[in-house]
Amino acid sequence: MDRIHITRRHNGNWIINLCVLLCNLNIIISQSCNSNNETVDGLPENWPCQWNSGQIPFVFNFYSIGIKRLSSLVKKGHSYLEKRSCLKFTEHHPVEAAKMKNFTYLFYNYSGVLESCCLHYYTKPFGRRLVLITPVCTLPSEVAHAALHAMGLSHRKYELFNEVTTKAMLFPTECHDAEQKKRIFDRIH
Ligand SMILES: *[C@@H]1O[C@H](CO)[C@@H](O)[C@H](O)[C@H]1NC(C)=O
Ligand SMILES: *[C@@H]1O[C@H](CO)[C@@H](O)[C@H](O)[C@H]1NC(C)=O
Ligand SMILES: *[C@@H]1O[C@H](CO)[C@@H](O)[C@H](O)[C@H]1NC(C)=O
Ligand SMILES: [Zn+2]
Repeated sequence: MDRIHITRRHNGNWIINLCVLLCNLNIIISQSCNSNNETVDGLPENWPCQWNSGQIPFVFNFYSIGIKRLSSLVKKGHSYLEKRSCLKFTEHHPVEAAKMKNFTYLFYNYSGVLESCCLHYYTKPFGRRLVLITPVCTLPSEVAHAALHAMGLSHRKYELFNEVTTKAMLFPTECHDAEQKKRIFDRIH
C-alpha cells in the first residue's frame, strides 16, 4: 500500500514537472504575450508586446570588427537609457536568439565606415533588428539614439523623436524609481 502511494506521488510530481518544462518551453519557443494583456498608449508601430515588461533583448554580432569597442560603446549607450527609463537591456547569445521563433531583439554591429546611425535599419517588424554603430555615433547618447531607432522610433531630418512616443517606449512598465527617471526625461524635453 505504501509502495503504491509513493509511486503515485512520484508520478504526480513527474507530470507536474513535465508540465512546468513544457510550459516554459512553450514560452521560449512561441514568445507570445497572452500573459501580459496590458497595452501602453502611444507605443510605436511594431512594438513587440514581449517588450512590455521593459526587458529588451540584444546580441552582439560576434563576427563584427572591433567587437571589444562595440561592446564597450553599447554598454555605455544602454546604461544611458537605463538611467532615464524603466528599460533593462539583457544580452543573449546570437545563435540562441536566432533559433527562437518570433523573438525580437536588437542586433548590434560595428562598421568602421562613416555611415549614419540615425536611421531605421530593420525591415521586418519581428525578429532581428540591426543597430549599426559607426564612428559618427559613439557618444552614449548617440548609441542610445541608434538603439531607439531600432526599437521603432523615427523622426524627420533635423527633428527630435516624438516626445509622447519616446516616453511611452521608455516607460512601458513602472519601475521603483520611475518618477525620478521621468523627471530626468522631462528635463531633457
Ligand atoms: C485583454 O484586455 C481586454 C481589454 O481590457 C479584454 O477585453 C480582454 O478580455 C483581455 N484578454 C485577456 C486574455 O485577458
Ligand atoms: C509575434 O509577436 C508579435 C508581437 O511581438 C505578435 O503580435 C505576433 O502575434 C506574434 N506571432 C506569432 C506567430 O506568435
Ligand atoms: C556588419 O557591418 C559590416 C560593416 O559595415 C558589414 O560588412 C556586415 O555585413 C554587417 N553584418 C551584418 C550581419 O549586418
Ligand atoms: Zn535619428
